[in-house]
Amino acid sequence: MSHPASTEQAARLLIHRLTAAVADDFAADVRRGLTAQRKFLLPKYFYDGLGSRLFDAICLVPEYYLTRAEADIFARHAAEIVEKARDGARRLTLFELGSGSAAKTRRIIDVLLAAQTRLRYVPVDISTAALEESASALLGDYEGLGVTAYAADYDTALPRLRENFEEGARALVLFLGSNVGNFDRAEARDFLRRVRAALRPGDRLLLGADLKKDAATLEAAYDDPLGVTAAFNLNLLARINRELGADFSLRDFRHVALYDEREGRVEMHLESTCAQTVRVGALDLEINFRAGERIHTENSYKYSLDELSALAAETGFAREQTWLDPAGRFSSNLFVAEGKR
Ligand code: AVI
Repeated sequence: MSHPASTEQAARLLIHRLTAAVADDFAADVRRGLTAQRKFLLPKYFYDGLGSRLFDAICLVPEYYLTRAEADIFARHAAEIVEKARDGARRLTLFELGSGSAAKTRRIIDVLLAAQTRLRYVPVDISTAALEESASALLGDYEGLGVTAYAADYDTALPRLRENFEEGARALVLFLGSNVGNFDRAEARDFLRRVRAALRPGDRLLLGADLKKDAATLEAAYDDPLGVTAAFNLNLLARINRELGADFSLRDFRHVALYDEREGRVEMHLESTCAQTVRVGALDLEINFRAGERIHTENSYKYSLDELSALAAETGFAREQTWLDPAGRFSSNLFVAEGKR
């Protein structure tokens, strides 16, 4: 049966499915992390079906101020951000790296579609399901929108962004939500250099970055009393149980979040509350834990405005303007790609 609305919407959607090219080796990464001298697990593995939902719940937790602060900045300043990014060009093409549900992006799309009748939106996300869901919701709500999505990792997608450059339109790339904070400082520089290489001089990057602040506020944001962040962290062990046949007892590990002021980062760990041995069936591996031994699962780096200026300068951008939420906790930074125009 034909369905005019969905057929019409389908014509405005193209999804490049490039995830098959990424052989994410969960098993090999778990083996490497759990047999290391200082045990670790990679944070990219938080986001299975349950983990993604737990992350969405974290964004609703009062102590995790980051999401609301960024949404607040967009509610107040989206028009100004877009105007700055347009910089006299007739139109903008909107890109988003790690788009997820694209909830905050709507503020930007609203402003853009008030000024131009058509908008191409190019989201990149590792999750095909998240892209399908967000694209269909957006296409239903915005008639003037066309979506070209890349289900891919950033390495695969970045060199392909230029396929979407349009005559007379400047590019605005969104990298929101403090995602940059999950890279260490060298990785952040390397990543932004690759973003810069994908752009033309004068194109813009809007970078969400959480700011350095007192340890109590930061530790509460990553160790909420409701235990949502603890569940998000512990789900990594549950995922290893589910997918690799391990026998982690989640009750024998506790969530730890600490702000390291010298490094300017919140660290998350899973701490073994007793001496124990865990078996990972699919890896034919037994791992011993001492009481108090930790698995390092995530770093969330925090920035000062000076560090953000330096980050821009070291990666081929300039920090053009920064907007803060009213409490001054979070920053949205417009970086302009430097070079001869
Ligand atoms: C996705 N990322 C920016 C979050 C952060 O703040 O580092 C992940 C997170 N970890 C614990 N809470 C939220």
